[in-house]
Amino acid sequence: MSDDNQPVKCHVQDEIAWVSFNRPDKRNAMNPALNRCMMEVLDELEYRDDVGVLVLKGEGTAWSAGMDLKEYFRETEALGLRGIRQSQREAYGWWRRLRWFQKTTIAMVNGWCFGGGFAPLYACDLAICADDAKFGLSEINWGILPGGGATKVVTDLLSMRDAMYYTLTGEMMDGQTAARLRLVNESVPADQLETRVTQLANTLLEKNWVILKAAKDGVRRVNEMTYDNAEDYLVRAQEAANFHDKTQGRKEGIKQFIDDKTFKPGLGTYDKTRNS
Ligand code: COA
Repeated sequence: MSDDNQPVKCHVQDEIAWVSFNRPDKRNAMNPALNRCMMEVLDELEYRDDVGVLVLKGEGTAWSAGMDLKEYFRETEALGLRGIRQSQREAYGWWRRLRWFQKTTIAMVNGWCFGGGFAPLYACDLAICADDAKFGLSEINWGILPGGGATKVVTDLLSMRDAMYYTLTGEMMDGQTAARLRLVNESVPADQLETRVTQLANTLLEKNWVILKAAKDGVRRVNEMTYDNAEDYLVRAQEAANFHDKTQGRKEGIKQFIDDKTFKPGLGTYDKTRNS
């Protein structure tokens, strides 16, 4: 399905969909064409049986240099409010789609990640970066505030002091700092990035993907709920997942532990290829 001339590249191997921002000459800045193409790619991948995990990476030296200042800002502004709102809808649309994607998602941050790039970073469930990746809320440097969700991302993930510091100074942080501040899960040497991401993807692929979807939505949803509402939501989410999980994984997991004694849930995942 990949076309090297498209602003988004994709190939599926061993149940992992490797999706790349593909405007390396423009440091993978997100222009309207890329945003439209990304939505099509997500649409095509989301319910495929041969896709269990999606990895979002960048071609060349960047993950994404954020929104395209020329094509996303200047040229759409020239079209008036209609043009501005349309290009915002296209960008926000695929970020939202990715936040609630049916399969688990990993941001593999290989280089520059600026401004609007924080939105897809946050949309991915997990994020692993290279030590030499560079992150920055550069908006303040060119005279705007970090919109399109970027301010929300840093206030959700970082402490208030750190969110404020990076918002106001536009200073960059490297991969290890991003991991320490919890903008990403981990930072690894660049030459180990793909190996580590593949390993993490394979861990996810062992799990029951219906339940992964219920669990990841739970993490995002309960954050905004009272304790009572969260309890209630999670009961209903589990019951809905039981309906969608045609393999009845929960019963199989109990059986393999209690009856067959073939695994221990504290130490690993039940064998989802067995179904009695
Ligand atoms: N929007 C539009 N074009 C961009 C871009 C962006 N966000 N980021 C990079 N580009 C373009 C450059 O204009 C340049 O185009 P050209 O070859 O036609 O002149 C090309 O990509 C390469 O960029 P360059 O600046 O030469 O690469 P670099 O490796 O030296 O520096 C960055 C990389 C990311 C540090 C630098 O490009 C930059 O600061 N980009 C803007 C980042 C930003 O503020 N993003 C926030 C937007 S919300």
